[in-house]
Amino acid sequence: MPYNPSMEKRHFSYQEIHKTAKSMALRVQERGFEPDVIVAIGTGGFIPARIIRTFLRKPILAVGIAYYDANDKPAGNPRKVQWIEEAERKLSGKKILLVDEVDDSRTTLEYCIRELMNHHPAEIAVAVIHNKNKLKRGTIPSEVAHYIVGEELPDVWIVYPWDALDIDEHDRNTGKR
Ligand code: G4P
Ligand code: MG
Repeated sequence: MPYNPSMEKRHFSYQEIHKTAKSMALRVQERGFEPDVIVAIGTGGFIPARIIRTFLRKPILAVGIAYYDANDKPAGNPRKVQWIEEAERKLSGKKILLVDEVDDSRTTLEYCIRELMNHHPAEIAVAVIHNKNKLKRGTIPSEVAHYIVGEELPDVWIVYPWDALDIDEHDRNTGKR
């Protein structure tokens, strides 16, 4: 969903994101899921995936999804703008941990999961820093072995530290909760 100025905002610091990502990595381990590869959904999933890698020590592959066509018009459906080369070879038979920052409408996640499933991985687990509790437009396919959420949130607008133009001001806003 695009940003809507009437939405309540919640700012998260790097420190908070790091701790949440760590808790997710530990939960992945507790569940006995040992990924061969982490797939990060760009761009919001890049930094969370990198933090998770500190604990799981697996390589990261990146994918990019866009909602806009070549003329910057909303396309209605997600599409791939960057994908994994030789995905067949790299993902077939592998255990994938798919990482994104937020499960909002779930459209991107469902699209990515289905695209990854086309490459016949052994297993897919999904990890998101934040899940918004709201009516979803997409679904997590039943083939997903684990769905791990760092923190459940109401339908607020989340402000991530990597979007901050002034990180000190951003951090001051994280205290206002
Ligand atoms: P979903 O399937 O993961 O729920 O994503 P959805 O398609 O609903 O979201 C579309 C875009 O909106 C995504 O960004 C998502 O990260 C972003 N988004 C949704 N809710 C929030 C929010 O509360 N705060 C922020 N900062 N972003 C939000 P994208 O198009 O993938 O771009 P990018 O920012 O990841 O590069
Ligand atoms: Mg995103």
